Order: sequence, then structure tokens, then C-alpha cells
Amino acid sequence: MTERFDQQAAIVTGAGSGIGRETALMLARDGADVLAVDRDEPGVVETAKRGNGPGRILTMHADVTGEATPDEIVQRCETELGAPRILINNAGIGDSRPAHLSDDKNLDGFLEVNLRALFRLSRATVLAMRAAGQGGSIVNLASIFGITGFRGSSAYSATKAAVIGLTRNMAADYGLDGIRVNAVAPGIIETALTKNRLASNAWFSDTLVGGTPLGRVGQPEEIAAAIAFLCSADAAYVTGHTLVVDGGYSATHFRPHPEDPAS
Ligand SMILES: NC(=O)c1ccc[n+]([C@@H]2O[C@H](COP(=O)([O-])OP(=O)(O)OC[C@H]3O[C@@H](n4cnc5c(N)ncnc54)[C@H](O)[C@@H]3O)[C@@H](O)[C@H]2O)c1
Repeated sequence: MTERFDQQAAIVTGAGSGIGRETALMLARDGADVLAVDRDEPGVVETAKRGNGPGRILTMHADVTGEATPDEIVQRCETELGAPRILINNAGIGDSRPAHLSDDKNLDGFLEVNLRALFRLSRATVLAMRAAGQGGSIVNLASIFGITGFRGSSAYSATKAAVIGLTRNMAADYGLDGIRVNAVAPGIIETALTKNRLASNAWFSDTLVGGTPLGRVGQPEEIAAAIAFLCSADAAYVTGHTLVVDGGYSATHFRPHPEDPAS
């Protein structure tokens, strides 16, 4: 049986943990050959170890914010796996602050990783995809905080809203090249990014988990499944879209209550 990503070359950033790791594993399980990139070398090596084919998982230890990194990533992909057909812009940092407690260094950190690096790698990849003439699919990791407001998340929210804007714009620019560009906006997902905060901050977990109709945090595999769908032929007519995967958090004003008429 032909796998849905049969030997397509895929780049996944932030593949050493959480959503990126599960996405790399799912794409490889479905036949893609994956270049798994992360600044955390043991993390990305562990991802490759967990891979069980049929696609290959090659590791690349790199910081996506490096000036030369986007070109190096694309070159490595082209040399070892072929022209990129899939790019998952997943590397990201979280845990920001309200604007009045933020300084320029904090703001610049978010802009560098969550926006500038994503923009630059998308540009390098689109050039390679266009040169190869086979089309492709890009999925950017946004967040529900790029769609709705949330307290204490100023720079993070701003970068994720920008990612949604860039997604729409690149969909318009590259559709005629057969390149689809979409985003996934996760709700609260249990990964290294959120684990400590969920465990130590009752306000954070009560607000987010309590406000989620499905009543639980999401798992990274559940985001990987949405990403893989957007890359697949099943989503052949989907571009410029932001797919929210959040257990219903952003679609509702849900709070369980004993006097709730529906309970
Ligand atoms: N976990 C959530 O609840 C949640 C919600 C919404 C959006 N997201 C987004 O999903 C993406 C993945 O998050 P996660 O929860 O899996 O986090 P995570 O911390 O588990 O994984 C992020 C990975 O990115 C890597 N990374 C960070 N900066 C990098 C850099 N400069 N260069 C190379 N690698 C770098 C880290 O080393 C790590 O392995 C992020 O963009 C995040 O904003 C997560």
C-alpha cells in the first residue's frame, strides 16, 4: 500500500519535543522522509530513535534563528532527502508576560523565534519548492492566543497573530505554484512548554482546562494529526486556513457550574 506521504521530503522544526516530535513521527510513519531540526540535540536524537519507519528521520542540530540556518536546512534536505515537499514551522517559545512587565529583550526573543525564523525558513523553502516545480505544503504553528485574547501573553499572542497573517498572505502568493500554506492553532496541549505552568499555576490551568468543553488538555499527537491532515491530499483544496484544535475553548464561553441548566 502506498503511504500518504510516500517518500516526500519533510522539514520539521522544533522536532526534539512535544508537538514537533509527534509530527515528525507521524509523517515518517506515513512514509515521509523527515529532516528533524532542533537546537536541543539529545531531544531530536531521541525523536529519531523513536521512529519506526517506513520514512527516515534525519536529525539536524540547529538554532532556527541563525542567519545561515534556513539555507543550511533547505540544502541538507535537498542533498539527503530531495527537494522539500512539506515544511512544518513548529519551533517556538512561550510563557510571555503582560506588556507592562515586558522589556525589549523579551519582545525581541519572541519575534526572533516565533516570527522571524519562521518567515526566513518559509522563504528559503518556497524558493526550493518553486525551483523543483512539484508544489508543496507548509504548516505553521499558531495558537488560539493568536486569535483570542488571554491575560499575560502579549508578545507571544502578537507573534502568533502575525503567523496567521503570514499564512494567509503566503497562501495568496504561492497557490499558483501548487504550494498550500496553512496554520494550526492549538489550545492547551500537554508538552514541555506548558507542563510546569499547568502544574504550578492554578489560575492558568483552571482558566484553560476549566474553559475547555472537552474538559482536558490536548495531547501533542492530536495536533500532529491535524498537521498531517493539512499536509495530505485530503486537504488538497485547503489553503490560507487556520485550523483550531483546542477542545472547543475558543468557540465557547464554557465554565462548568452546578446551576448550569445543561448539566
Ligand atoms: N503546548 C501548547 O499548549 C501550545 C499551544 C499553542 C501553540 N503551541 C505552539 O506549538 C509549537 C510547539 O510547542 P510545544 O508545546 O511542542 O513546545 P516544546 O517546548 O515541547 O517544543 C518546542 C521545541 O522547539 C525547539 N526550539 C525552540 N526554539 C528553537 C530554536 N530557536 N531553534 C531550534 N529549535 C527550537 C525546542 O528545543 C523544543 O524542542 C510552538 O510553536 C508553540 O508556540 C503550543
